[in-house]
Amino acid sequence: MKVLVATDKPFAKVAVDGIRKEIEAAGYELVLLEKYGEKAKLLEAVKDANAIIIRSDIIDAEVLDAAKELKIVVRAGAGYDNVDLEAATAHNVCVMNTPGQNSNAVAELAFGLMVMAVRNMYNGTSGTELMGKKLGIHAYGNVGRNVARIAKGFGMEIYAFDAFCPKEVIEKDGVKAVGSAEELYSTCDVVSLHIPATAETKNSINYALVNKMPKGGLLVNTARKEVINEAELIQLMEERTDLKYMTDIMPAANETFAAKFAGRYFSTPKKMGAQTAEANINAGIAAAKQIVGFLKDGCEKFRVNKK
Ligand code: 3PG
Repeated sequence: MKVLVATDKPFAKVAVDGIRKEIEAAGYELVLLEKYGEKAKLLEAVKDANAIIIRSDIIDAEVLDAAKELKIVVRAGAGYDNVDLEAATAHNVCVMNTPGQNSNAVAELAFGLMVMAVRNMYNGTSGTELMGKKLGIHAYGNVGRNVARIAKGFGMEIYAFDAFCPKEVIEKDGVKAVGSAEELYSTCDVVSLHIPATAETKNSINYALVNKMPKGGLLVNTARKEVINEAELIQLMEERTDLKYMTDIMPAANETFAAKFAGRYFSTPKKMGAQTAEANINAGIAAAKQIVGFLKDGCEKFRVNKK
């Protein structure tokens, strides 16, 4: 059995070593395709792969067509919007993610971005503190929960909205559950986004919603760029010079944001929320174990596509 690790944005070496150990211990072969850049290289590499581990790498119908021997794709991470689930089902390929394995890394980066923003991008001028500020966590999944845990250490007042998470689950963490996204944005000084990119959430962070934020509001995005209505956010930030936007997912309109909003906009050059040795080890090895469990015992825990 051939297991391909196809990561345009590579894992830390220590994580690749750990993945290799799991795969070889099961008697399988590991093939590594890193920083491949062009899709043609991925199409070539998947030809004889029985299993693939990916990160944000795109697995679409064309890739699945080329991967004639493929049985399983594991997205080492949380969001699987980069995989065409219907096409995978049609090709009889199981798709899994590794929920929770890289959440702390993403949550820590959200705070890195928050501190950078409130300290005026480290430009030497007097900024503000996070202590005592109201933090809104938009979606209370694995990352959201880690954000809440860290926010307690910062002494923030913590609110959350999640349409799919019962109020009691949120409140047992000492977090105030609010009834709508609108209420979250109008209540909080800082909103940290943790929603997945789905048909419902795409473009949902728009002018009307962000405009509810109080004066000096800060929006932090370590989720997905697709959830932001970029044109409307640009219009709003032109009108409201008090708002700041910090993101780990470079907007399509990055140049416009950077030119218009110097000092209150920042994007990492490449999504790096999950770029830590720990997160790579956790998610990568979990992915390897899930592949072995699937190929040897038919275990489908964490399957995200229909059969
Ligand atoms: C995820 O969905 O797990 C995170 O966004 C991390 O994605 P990455 O593996 O592409 O860094």
